[in-house]
Amino acid sequence: MTPPRTGPTPAATAAPAFPADFLWGAATAAYQIEGAVDVDGRTPSIWDTFSRTPGRTAGGDTGDRATEHYHRYRQDVRLMSELGLGAYRFSVSWPRVQPTGRGPAVERGLDFYRRLVDELLEHGIEPAVTLYHWDLPQDLEDIGGWPNRNTAERFADYATLVAEALGDRVGIWTTLNEPWCSAFLGYGSGVHAPGRADWTAALRAAHHLNLGHGRAVEALRAALPRQARIAVSLNLHEVRPLTGSAADREAARRIDAVGNRVFTGPMLDGEYPADLLLDTARLVDWGELIHEGDLATIARPIDVLGVNYYNPTVASALPEGPAPGAATASDAGHGDGAQSPFAGCADVLFHRAPGPRTEMGWPIDPTGLTDLLLRLHREHPGLPLMVTENGAAFDDRVTPEGAVHDPQRIDYLRGHLDAVRGAIAAGVDVRGYFLWSLMDNFEWAYGYGKRFGLYYVDYDTQARTAKDSARWYAEVIRRNALPDPGA
Ligand code: FCB
Repeated sequence: MTPPRTGPTPAATAAPAFPADFLWGAATAAYQIEGAVDVDGRTPSIWDTFSRTPGRTAGGDTGDRATEHYHRYRQDVRLMSELGLGAYRFSVSWPRVQPTGRGPAVERGLDFYRRLVDELLEHGIEPAVTLYHWDLPQDLEDIGGWPNRNTAERFADYATLVAEALGDRVGIWTTLNEPWCSAFLGYGSGVHAPGRADWTAALRAAHHLNLGHGRAVEALRAALPRQARIAVSLNLHEVRPLTGSAADREAARRIDAVGNRVFTGPMLDGEYPADLLLDTARLVDWGELIHEGDLATIARPIDVLGVNYYNPTVASALPEGPAPGAATASDAGHGDGAQSPFAGCADVLFHRAPGPRTEMGWPIDPTGLTDLLLRLHREHPGLPLMVTENGAAFDDRVTPEGAVHDPQRIDYLRGHLDAVRGAIAAGVDVRGYFLWSLMDNFEWAYGYGKRFGLYYVDYDTQARTAKDSARWYAEVIRRNALPDPGA
C-alpha cells in the first residue's frame, strides 16, 4: 500500500440496496463467549492465564463463564435465526481442539464445533470459521509463543486438524483475526495476552503470524474442497495526518507501515515494505528473521480479504515540548497502556478527532471505512473484500419493561453500512458484512463492562434480550437495504 490519502470520499447514495448475494452476518470469538474453559479436555490459553493475573483485566474479569455459549449454543443459533443472518463468523478455540498445541486432536473439542456447524446449517446459516482469535495454547507460549518460529508450524498443523473435521460443511475460512493485536498488543504494549512488553518480540511475532497465515493457507488448500473460500481478517488502520505538514505526513506513513503494510505487504504483495524494514531496523534483524521461501509462503493467494474497522486514527509528529490537546498514544489502538502500540513509534502522537465517540472512547467516523475500502480496491484490484467486524459499545441498560433502547448503535450501524454501500456504488467488491457482535461478551482487557452486542446479556442469569438494534438489523437484512431513518 502507498501512504494514506485524505481526500474527499464519494457520496454514499447511489445504490438503493445491497447486491442481491450480499452476505449479512454477525461475529463472535471463542474466548469471548464460550466459557466452559476446563471441560472436555480444554487446557488454558494465554487469555486464561492473562485474565487470571491480577491487574490485567478490568475488575479481574475472566472468560471462565463468559456467555456460556458452549452450553447455550442452540439458543444462540435461534437468536441468529430470528435476525435472519445469512452467515455467522465464530472462532475455534485452539486449546479446546489441540490442548498442548501439538499432536492429535481432542475429538470432544471438535465435536462441539461439529454440533454448532450442524445447528447453523439446519437454520440455513452459513458458518464462517476463524482459526485463531487470540487464544494461543499456554503450552506454546511457554516455549516462546509467536516470537518463536515454530509456532507458525504448529498453527499449520492445527489448521489441518480443524479443516479435516469441518471442511465438508464449512465454506468460509479465516486464518488469523487481527494479527496486529496479537503481535503489538500481546508482545509490544503488553495490554493483551500474553502481556509481554518487548518490541523486538512483537516484530518477531508479526513475522511468524504472517508465516503462520501462509502455512495455514497451504494446509487449508490441501485439506479443503476446491470451492472453499480462504481469508484473513486484518484490523487495518485508516490513519490520517493531523495537518498537511511534512512531519505529520511522515508520522502517518510510519503508522501505516507498522499498522497495515507489515501484514498487507507480505500477504498481498509478497514483500515487506522497504520503509518498514528501515524504520524498525534497530529493533529486529529482518535478514535473520525472514528465511528463504518465507515470502512466497506468506503470499499464497487468498480468496477474500477480511476488513475489521471501528474508527480512524489521527497521527502527528511529536512536537517540541508538551502538545496541547493531544491524547495519549494508546487512543489509537485497543489497549489502554501508556505506551504507543506501534513498534518504534514512541515519537508519534495520536489525537482525539472531534465529534461523537462510543463507550470505548473511539471516534465515530464512517468516512474512515469508505476511505479504507476504496484504498484497498485501488491498491489490490480484483481482491474481493468482506467487512468481518464493525460495531460499537454503548452504555446499554434494560428498562423496567425489558427493552434495551440503543439509538446510538443504530446510528453507528446505519452510518457504517451506508459507507459500505457507498464503496460498493463506487465499484468496490464488498461481499458481506459481519456485525460485531451477536451478543455482549468478554471484551478482552476491558472485561464485561463494554457491551457490543445486538443482544444484551445479563451475566448473572445469562438471559439474552434483543436490543432495538437487533430488530433494526433484522429489518436491514430482510430488505437487503437500509430502512429510512425513523422507520
Ligand atoms: C476487535 C476484536 C474483537 C472485539 C472488537 C471490539 O479488535 O477482534 O474480538 O474485541 O475488537
